[in-house]
Amino acid sequence: MLNVQSEEIVPRRWYNVVSDLPEPLPPPRSSDRDHSSIELLNSIIPREMLRQEFTFNRYETIPEEVRVQYLQIGRPTPLIRALNLEKFLGYRGKIFYKLEGATATGSHKINTAIPQAYYAAQEGIEEIVTETGAGQWGSATALAGSINNMKTTVFMVKISYEQKPARRTVMSLYNGRVIPSPSSETEFGRNILKENPSHPGSLGIAISEAVEYTIANGLRYMLGSVMNSVLTHQSIIGQEAISQLDILGESPDTLIGCVGGGSNFGGFVFPFLQSGRPIELIASTAREVPKFSKGSYEYDAIDSAGILPMLRMYTLGSKFVPEKIYAGGLRYHGAAPSLSLLVRSGRVNTDEVPEDEVIQALKIFASTQGIIAAPESGHAIASLIRYARNRDNQGKTIVLNVSGHGYLDLKIFEGRE
Ligand SMILES: Cc1ncc(COP(=O)(O)O)c(C=O)c1O
Repeated sequence: MLNVQSEEIVPRRWYNVVSDLPEPLPPPRSSDRDHSSIELLNSIIPREMLRQEFTFNRYETIPEEVRVQYLQIGRPTPLIRALNLEKFLGYRGKIFYKLEGATATGSHKINTAIPQAYYAAQEGIEEIVTETGAGQWGSATALAGSINNMKTTVFMVKISYEQKPARRTVMSLYNGRVIPSPSSETEFGRNILKENPSHPGSLGIAISEAVEYTIANGLRYMLGSVMNSVLTHQSIIGQEAISQLDILGESPDTLIGCVGGGSNFGGFVFPFLQSGRPIELIASTAREVPKFSKGSYEYDAIDSAGILPMLRMYTLGSKFVPEKIYAGGLRYHGAAPSLSLLVRSGRVNTDEVPEDEVIQALKIFASTQGIIAAPESGHAIASLIRYARNRDNQGKTIVLNVSGHGYLDLKIFEGRE
């Protein structure tokens, strides 16, 4: 069997890594600028999200309605043996990949958008709000809002809004209202536009606008990554992979995934920690955003505007402006506190890959397995190829997480065909 699919593979509970970490997880702290930022966060996210953010429970029951929606958007996602890639690399071992790009919205982001929207709907809220850079998170939120019969407003960084019209179309098809940020919808946006009417926007500005709009209208704000509750929701990736590998009678030696804020990586690898087996874990990041090798481990703001609380994590500084690499989702300055702790303790290894190598890796994956992966996922693929080409790593069973598809990112190949 090379590809295992069955409804029963979708778990009935999420796994929260907090109680299995080598030391207590440092809690969020109010930011230096705004001493009430924790209270602010508390007032804009669904109450259930807040509870899950601070719980020590190892497991959380997935509401049946949420599980049904997981099935609707294509879960379980496939786990496929990459025989063609193994052959191409001459790898003497096994390579499997978990394909989160097979969900309806094309990435893992929908795994947390669905429960967050569901919890907001349970509170009687009629509209949810978020920001998006490249558009993956905005698309997932818009669909989650639509299937929960809520309006969704997405503040999209203006430069991406202009450069990525296809993503805008996707969000509109999911009934999302997409607003280029900075906008005249908020005071924060209006002030920026007054100074510079053609401001290209930034994720920090988009977050500020989304938060202001949420507060002003008594709505709920959706969190895309980094927070522990988000990683808990993403644990369905790893739990499904464990069941699928069990069915195949396989046991992995190495897990590889990419890291932006850490949600697909944490969701994929953390459930495997429960086994206590010494599985090698490799977090792949962009060389252009060297958060683990050049960042420091300290309290820093989640957002560049400093509105939300601070987290203790590996960070390049919330004001860090990375190069304009295609993998927009990996340009984030920090990494989830739980993942940061595991990197610091040496349990998770890291690998940094430059964009040129990522493009080569994406091409190899496309021409062998037929999968055009997202530029973000291309980092994990590049790390896998490096790993499999190392003579010391022959004979192992490697599992890779492919966090999204790249059909809306084909520009990365222009002039490189
Ligand atoms: C396809 C894809 N992979 C990875 C990421 C990185 O985010 P995270 O580290 O939270 O999984 C993103 C974020 O936008 C993404 O869209």
